[in-house]
Amino acid sequence: MIISSQKFHVNGLSYTVRSAMEQDAEDLSEIRLRIDGETEHLDREPGEAFIDAPGFKQIIKTDTENDRNLFLVAAVDDRIVGFSRCEGTLLKRFSHKAEFGICILKDYWGYGIGRNLLKASVAWADSGDITKITLHVLETNVKAIELYKQFGFEIEGILKKDRILSDGQYYGTIVMGRFNGKI
Ligand SMILES: CC(C)(COP(=O)(O)OP(=O)(O)OC[C@H]1O[C@@H](n2cnc3c(N)ncnc32)[C@H](O)[C@@H]1OP(=O)(O)O)[C@@H](O)C(=O)NCCC(=O)NCCS
Repeated sequence: MIISSQKFHVNGLSYTVRSAMEQDAEDLSEIRLRIDGETEHLDREPGEAFIDAPGFKQIIKTDTENDRNLFLVAAVDDRIVGFSRCEGTLLKRFSHKAEFGICILKDYWGYGIGRNLLKASVAWADSGDITKITLHVLETNVKAIELYKQFGFEIEGILKKDRILSDGQYYGTIVMGRFNGKI
């Protein structure tokens, strides 16, 4: 699905939130790899499950053509600094759901980019057939959890000792869901 682009000016930074286009594939492949190296809040160590530019082209094409998917990017001066995806499913029994994921380059944290990508995604879901948005978040990612709660996500459960981070310790993954007024 494609949505119309929106411009923002926050704390002196101007950026655009818009649907991903096939021309973004190269940048997306590069920043995904970089962000994986900047935080342990995501699932991958840098280089793991790498998606190259043709891989992103395919994902963008699928998301553009599918009403249950939404792929958004945040761009500063035409340079992509973050992105989010809502991924629906073709399975009928789960057709009301989409899984949300988001990542932003560290230099661009705190400018409301996460909030605005999420806001656009929630608005898209509420305007269509997606009545439940789900997501998984590391239990120590307080900033993300607070943001999700502000948009109506609730904690559905916790997957205990779900991952092992670089300190050798086990960490839980919180499962969150947002139900819109229709269910
Ligand atoms: C989590 C992430 C998406 C947030 O994006 P962001 O653009 O930095 O966030 P925003 O600037 O929109 O801030 C959103 C809210 O986060 C919360 N927040 C920000 N800093 C915070 C902090 N230090 N502690 C607690 N909450 C904080 C606030 O509620 C803030 O809202 P406010 O602007 O009203 O204060 C971003 O930091 C990121 O990509 N992190 C790495 C990847 C990741 O963790 N993805 C989520 C995996 S589930």
